[in-house]
Amino acid sequence: MRTQVGIVGAGPAGLLLAHLLRLRGIDSIVIESRSRDYVESRIRAGVLEQGTVDILCESGVGERLQQQGLPHHGIELSFSGARHRINLHDLTGGRAITVYGQTEVVKDLIAAQIAAAAPLYFEVEATSIHDFESESPKIRFRQGGKEREIQCDFIAGCDGFHGICRPTIPAGKLSVFERVYPFGWLGILAQSTPPSEELIYCHHERGFALFSMRTPEITRLYIQCEPDEDIANWPDARIWDELETRLHAGGDLTLTEGPILQKSVTPMRSFVTEPMQFGRLFLAGDAAHIVPPTGAKGLNLAAADIRMLARALATFYQAGNAALLEQYSVTCLRRVWRAEHFSWWMTSLLHKFPETTPFQQRLQLAELEYVTRSRAAATSLAENYVGLPFED
Ligand code: APR
Ligand code: PHB
Repeated sequence: MRTQVGIVGAGPAGLLLAHLLRLRGIDSIVIESRSRDYVESRIRAGVLEQGTVDILCESGVGERLQQQGLPHHGIELSFSGARHRINLHDLTGGRAITVYGQTEVVKDLIAAQIAAAAPLYFEVEATSIHDFESESPKIRFRQGGKEREIQCDFIAGCDGFHGICRPTIPAGKLSVFERVYPFGWLGILAQSTPPSEELIYCHHERGFALFSMRTPEITRLYIQCEPDEDIANWPDARIWDELETRLHAGGDLTLTEGPILQKSVTPMRSFVTEPMQFGRLFLAGDAAHIVPPTGAKGLNLAAADIRMLARALATFYQAGNAALLEQYSVTCLRRVWRAEHFSWWMTSLLHKFPETTPFQQRLQLAELEYVTRSRAAATSLAENYVGLPFED
């Protein structure tokens, strides 16, 4: 098999890249180890920055997003027994976020690939990648018990944190920066009315909680838990009790219980690889960086990487100019590190740390007071939360 860009992984990064390249007349083949059903039902985050919404809408995959996405102009922070609204819209000159599940973005992108009869193969696992320091890189994969190969001009490593592309880069060529947090999030999706029309981030003495949603009938809720929490410790009744306690410290809202559709534990990590490129291998999305979910940046960073990579590849193929490809890593990493800082800061502000001292607890509350009382501090949170403008 031969193509221009061989893409490993059909998460949001790989699918969006294939889509944007196709619109520019560049061929690609996407291979994904999991089944279509698995990829389309994997529950992930659900907050899209304006810039991400624009990429999807301008490239023609925004129809369902525009019909079903929920535009949000603010978020709430709950602490010390009261809720405080951050008016994202006013503080950022009219920008906002859209609540729309990553799962739905993935379904829309898969539908676009399939409608265009573009090559997208599920249950095909890349086993190794080769020759990406030359002009003819290769991806090997197994299909139906046979070893096969894709020959391409470039490889896009969009295979997530546990993929094979990043570890194939020779040791010593990459620097890795990492922080693992001493807690995780227990997430549930429930068929019940969200307690509020906006997201509520709760700082509570028992630990963090987040009240989010997918639709006006489906709520998405998170509770801080142990990083290796056994889900068996969390029968439904305990989850609702704990959410009730952490929410009600904030006041007057009603938490409606309903059937829990899905439960999972997510560990929390910050991780960056530098550079994000080696020869003709380009890493994008979770393959290159991870943020803890508190700032809702993971999917948005992946979309920003792909926007850059698609433009850089188009400039290469259309004008024979590799300058944008050469700048890919440096350009992406500026945005990545800003989002890393914001996500670390939101995480540090809102969670209960096991080794915390009374001094540190007071500092956290002082920072929360500042962020909700000072327009300058609130603006900083708001502009990062809605997403900083693209550089170009
Ligand atoms: N061969 C083929 N596919 C692979 C391989 C392999 N060897 N290894 C991993 N994959 C696939 C995974 O099954 C997964 O579907 O690569 C895909 C990577 O997708 P994601 O993990 O969703 O990563 P990405 O597309 O970068 O999306 C980033 O997803 O994890 C969230 O919070 C993150 O929102 C962010 C977004
Ligand atoms: C979600 O709705 O899944 C969600 C929202 C905000 C976050 C993280 C996850 O910060």
